[in-house]
Amino acid sequence: MQGIPHTDVALADTYRAFATLECAGVSPVYEQLCLGVAADAEVLALIGTLPLPRRQPNLLLGVVRLLGGPIDDYLTMRAWLVAHWDAVRDQMLTRTTQTNEAARTAILLPALADLPQPLALLEVGASAGLCLYPDRYAFAYDGRAPIGDPAGPVIECVTSGPVPVPQAVPPVVWRAGIDLNPLDVTDPDDVAWLRALIWPEHTARRDRLSAAAAIAAADPPLLVRADLNDALPDLVAQAPDDATLVVFHTAVLAYLSPADRDRFCTTMTDLVASRPGTVWLSNEAPGVLPAITGRLPVPVPSGRTVLARDGRPVAFGMPHGQALTWLD
Ligand SMILES: C[S@@+](CC[C@H](N)C(=O)[O-])C[C@H]1O[C@@H](n2cnc3c(N)ncnc32)[C@H](O)[C@@H]1O
Repeated sequence: MQGIPHTDVALADTYRAFATLECAGVSPVYEQLCLGVAADAEVLALIGTLPLPRRQPNLLLGVVRLLGGPIDDYLTMRAWLVAHWDAVRDQMLTRTTQTNEAARTAILLPALADLPQPLALLEVGASAGLCLYPDRYAFAYDGRAPIGDPAGPVIECVTSGPVPVPQAVPPVVWRAGIDLNPLDVTDPDDVAWLRALIWPEHTARRDRLSAAAAIAAADPPLLVRADLNDALPDLVAQAPDDATLVVFHTAVLAYLSPADRDRFCTTMTDLVASRPGTVWLSNEAPGVLPAITGRLPVPVPSGRTVLARDGRPVAFGMPHGQALTWLD
């Protein structure tokens, strides 16, 4: 890699892999910006001054957009980035990627609707808590007439395999979440960050964020600022006894160390065994919980998450809830 010091090669690879594996076909804008960064020794050196967890492409580009940087072509973005590096750096050191995608509830809903009702929902890694409102959204599976709350945003999801598509959404009587840094949908700065985290071309997702944020603002969930392993037992103790407690997480455990993931899984296994009726739903990328992924009879299709109930895989999902495949 000519002109790029050896220490920055891994960072260049990260940006190139993000461009080709995650952005291609999903965000042409981010794809070309990340390919530009991957080939730019000076910009890689700037990003390389940040601590390792703060060098992520998604964080950089979210901050550029939050601060109003141009993203139409790489050279314009690059000139702006170099000129505004101190401000970008400050934001990258204080913010984290906390994308909150309400449409991930479309992956959870068939499993939720299968449970004794009503439900008490406890989400670990909740961000702003927008996945805590499946009863307030409408769901159109495979283009069928939406089910759920007609006043809510319509979440579309394409299914394959024997998905038990529900006829109705289950009632939710309690909702709580834990996050290291809960975002507040009534705070314009937090909402601006949530918007900046949505990739540029994804207009429908921004519209959905606005609608879901309005729902959460009108009926805020209980959000606890804490590490999920530390706060889980106290919050479980607050859940009502006369509802099915569902502890769930989507796109969260990748942020934990393997030891902390193991601790959480042990806690959940014990909780499901000791608190009758409690259910654990996990929706994570395949490499995050190898013990669960290892129970699959088939390989995980590229770019899919694994939905599991009580540690047993039941479905594959697309990362933003766009599609759901049920296992036979
Ligand atoms: C990518 S967001 C996903 C948010 C939400 N679950 C969703 O699917 O839309 C991951 C969230 O997990 C939170 N998180 C990461 N590590 C955590 C920990 N150890 N304890 C609590 N929250 C954590 C982050 O702050 C962030 O808000």
